[in-house]
Amino acid sequence: MTPPPSIKIAPSILAADFADFGAECRAVELQGADWIHVDVMDGHFVPNITFGPATCAAIRRHIRGIMDVHLMIAPVDPYIAAFAEAGADIITAHIEAGPHIHRTLQAIRATGKKAGLALNPGTGLDGVEHLLDLTDLICVMTVNPGFGGQSFIDLSAKVRALRAMIGDRPIHIEIDGGITSETAPLMTRAGADVLVAGSAVFKGGSARSPEAYGQNIRAIRTAAEAAIGRAA
Ligand code: DX5
Ligand code: ZN
Repeated sequence: MTPPPSIKIAPSILAADFADFGAECRAVELQGADWIHVDVMDGHFVPNITFGPATCAAIRRHIRGIMDVHLMIAPVDPYIAAFAEAGADIITAHIEAGPHIHRTLQAIRATGKKAGLALNPGTGLDGVEHLLDLTDLICVMTVNPGFGGQSFIDLSAKVRALRAMIGDRPIHIEIDGGITSETAPLMTRAGADVLVAGSAVFKGGSARSPEAYGQNIRAIRTAAEAAIGRAA
């Protein structure tokens, strides 16, 4: 029997202090974060703007582990090299961002980085099967992308179907949006192994007073692992 996967918690710096990203990244990593999730928004694919590759490169110097870059931009292909050079370990593009997602995933892999495929809540799994061999991670959005702090949409059935489709391929299922210690168990039970959380990680703390970050990360991890029978 395959053991349950180890759960990774990826704080989204969308909920961090934008004037102090370096200290925020160091703080959440010291408090137990597995990956740092970096949300790039262009004001076109989503109705909000964050930052681009230069900020990612600046943040990179403060991250010891995995930098997980979620591109909510269209087009994607002209910017892949810049995000790869900025030091992303995983570059995730949306299936909805253009007609040639297959080419986009090939282009990400060609930089030597891991390729992620993100799906909006309204997008089904049609077509995903043909992309699995080019994909290292599938990000199931459980909010409509663009903003932190939105309410979780329960897509357990979609996550379960995706886990079955993936089979024994080494592909992460990442959940992004509205993750808390209440919603995380639904997603790990359905087959997710990477949980992005912005508001639920950064609430109540600061880079100078980061103990709350640690408590928040532990609460999500404990609930998520208990749901799949792993000891906390
Ligand atoms: C939404 C972003 C998410 C967001 C999650 O477009 O992709 O990463 O920051 O934030 P919370 O955890 O607050 O829903
Ligand atoms: Zn995200």
